[in-house]
Amino acid sequence: MEKKEYGIYAQRRQELVASLKKEYPSLKTGAVLLSANYESDRIRFLQDSTFYYFTGINEPGMQLLLNLDGTSVLYLPKFKQNRSLWVKGGIELSPEWKKQLLVDDIRFLGKAGMSYSPTPFFDQALWQDLLANLSGIINKAGKIFIAKADDGLSRFGQTIVQRKLMQLLPTMEQNVCDISSVIASMRRSKSNDEIESLYNACDITSVAHEAAASLIEPGQTEARVRAGIEYVFTEAEARPAYPSIVASGHNATVLHYSDCTGELKAGDLVVVDVGAQYEQYCADITRTYPVSGKFTARQRELYQIVLDTQEYIADLAKPGLWLSNPDEQDASLHHLACKFLKERGDYDRYFPHGLGHFLGLDVHDVGDHNKPLEAGDVITIEPGLYLPKEGIGIRIEDNFWITPKGAVCLSHDLARSVDDIYELVQSNFN
Ligand code: GLY
Ligand code: MN
Ligand code: MN
Repeated sequence: MEKKEYGIYAQRRQELVASLKKEYPSLKTGAVLLSANYESDRIRFLQDSTFYYFTGINEPGMQLLLNLDGTSVLYLPKFKQNRSLWVKGGIELSPEWKKQLLVDDIRFLGKAGMSYSPTPFFDQALWQDLLANLSGIINKAGKIFIAKADDGLSRFGQTIVQRKLMQLLPTMEQNVCDISSVIASMRRSKSNDEIESLYNACDITSVAHEAAASLIEPGQTEARVRAGIEYVFTEAEARPAYPSIVASGHNATVLHYSDCTGELKAGDLVVVDVGAQYEQYCADITRTYPVSGKFTARQRELYQIVLDTQEYIADLAKPGLWLSNPDEQDASLHHLACKFLKERGDYDRYFPHGLGHFLGLDVHDVGDHNKPLEAGDVITIEPGLYLPKEGIGIRIEDNFWITPKGAVCLSHDLARSVDDIYELVQSNFN
């Protein structure tokens, strides 16, 4: 049995129950229904972030029912075949697992239906035990609290499941209540343990950047640089948090270019925007390297402007300011960055994307952008300039933990200044 501490997830479940009880003081019956993601034989399984946040479980097809009295039942799919013949591990209906996961009960969703892999397509018999439980809650005028998935992958499976449940339990729809915003506000504020996990993801990503820089030289391919990055991720038991971007020359002006089919040419820049996802937590770090080991005068001028913008904003970032708020531009990091770029020579024209986003279990993590920054937030600060006519794209992105005193960079050891970037790229020449 896997050795892992599940106390933190039980604690989060109790916090969620406490905040729902506060919000619905007169509600006697109700339960939160959280859904795991589903597998596909085309992409590696990735758990739904919210399900992981409240369970720590990294397996597909499960449902967690968390009652307002604080008790929880984990529902497992029942298979016709022995799943462990096909995939490693698995949680079983056993007192040991119940004790370790700190749930009050583990049950099957219903009858055995699927061969060895869960699917979101089911009929009454396959989910009859969970359906009976939900129907008991609804009959007592209780609420079923659900969270809308925040990424396309999770949304697909969960929407199918939720629609099917409402078809099988026609009275469910009027009792369903979306608590995505309550969950997002919990997930937005990171505990010290989560900060440590984010540091680990950033450390692996920094090593990957050093590997990338060591491969950069004229004639090299974007694909080989990406291979060097993902070698580091794989060896560290991490995975890319999003499709790795290695974009040279004109490709660097395409914000989410991920083809990696170009060749690095002397005199070009290469934007490397990569992040490790390690134990579910994501890093998102970008550097811009000169293929020849040195910037041209023009590239250097623009690089310095981007770097100065990032440093200016990182010095300002603290609780009370906004990531972006068009109605409070003097306290909005995005608008302050645009103003800074404008004052440096109307360069805000070449900055087409947002300055940053929340970071955590998802690379574009949940969190209400309409609320100002608070201690415990983790954000990216990623100014960039893109001049397609000159074939120049530059972005510098680091990850910052907002503390009462200001922003702490989680990736501060990775080269960023012009001289340090030169040294890193040139170290592999000769
Ligand atoms: N790598 C995606 C982003 O920077 O938001
Ligand atoms: Mn990025
Ligand atoms: Mn980013």
